Amino acid sequence: MPVFFQHIINDTTRLGIWKIEESEDFFKGNVPQHRDVTHPHKRLQHLAGRFLLQFLFPDFPYELIKIADTKKPFLPNEQYHFSISHCGDYAAAIVSKDKRVGIDVEIPVEKIKKIQHKFVSAYEQRIFNLQSGNSVDRRLTLLWSVKEAVYKWFGDGEVEFIEHIRLQNINEGEETMHCFFAKTSEELTIHYRNFDRLVLTWVCS
Ligand SMILES: CC(C)(COP(=O)(O)OP(=O)(O)OC[C@H]1O[C@@H](n2cnc3c(N)ncnc32)[C@H](O)[C@@H]1OP(=O)(O)O)[C@@H](O)C(=O)NCCC(=O)NCCS
Repeated sequence: MPVFFQHIINDTTRLGIWKIEESEDFFKGNVPQHRDVTHPHKRLQHLAGRFLLQFLFPDFPYELIKIADTKKPFLPNEQYHFSISHCGDYAAAIVSKDKRVGIDVEIPVEKIKKIQHKFVSAYEQRIFNLQSGNSVDRRLTLLWSVKEAVYKWFGDGEVEFIEHIRLQNINEGEETMHCFFAKTSEELTIHYRNFDRLVLTWVCS
């Protein structure tokens, strides 16, 4: 059971990262596939994400999952809120009985620099010290991941990453960031973890 990371946030909310080492048959025997995925590795990631939902809460009702027009998967009766992400050989999921949630995993890559103008504001450039230093790729990836997690937490699409998700500060000791989500005028706390090859972010609010 290659659980890479597990975090029981409280009585009602849990998250996990799965390192995918199994074949598709393992997951297909345990979880239903919820959308057509042609590419074999993407299909494996999709199945592993679904697998984690019941790994975290064994009574999670797979059969009730619906997909919104925005592509967000959800349970109509809101028995659980959940969010899924995958990257490379990793799948991550967060499941909560009472809070809306969003999660994202990313493997830091150099090419993120080329698209930073699409998601980083001038203020964020300054407070996250993104102009220089040897870990800029990782810090940019973290910022991208935070905004993806907020996007998924919101779930309704049509979010401008610079205009609507405004990061205000980072607390490295607590591994949190704060942001103002301008679409709904909410203050959010985003949690993050840096692993060797991976960045994890989540929102629960
Ligand atoms: C939907 C999106 C967040 C998925 O991110 P990704 O990096 O491609 O993939 P991830 O593996 O992290 O996440 C995929 C999962 O997100 C979930 N998801 C898809 N659409 C979603 C939505 N609208 N809301 C919440 N969750 C969503 C699904 O569970 C999906 O996995 P599954 O289909 O296997 O169940 C991304 O494609 C996207 O649209 N981002 C917004 C981009 C944007 O607007 N940028 C503007 C600034 S440049």
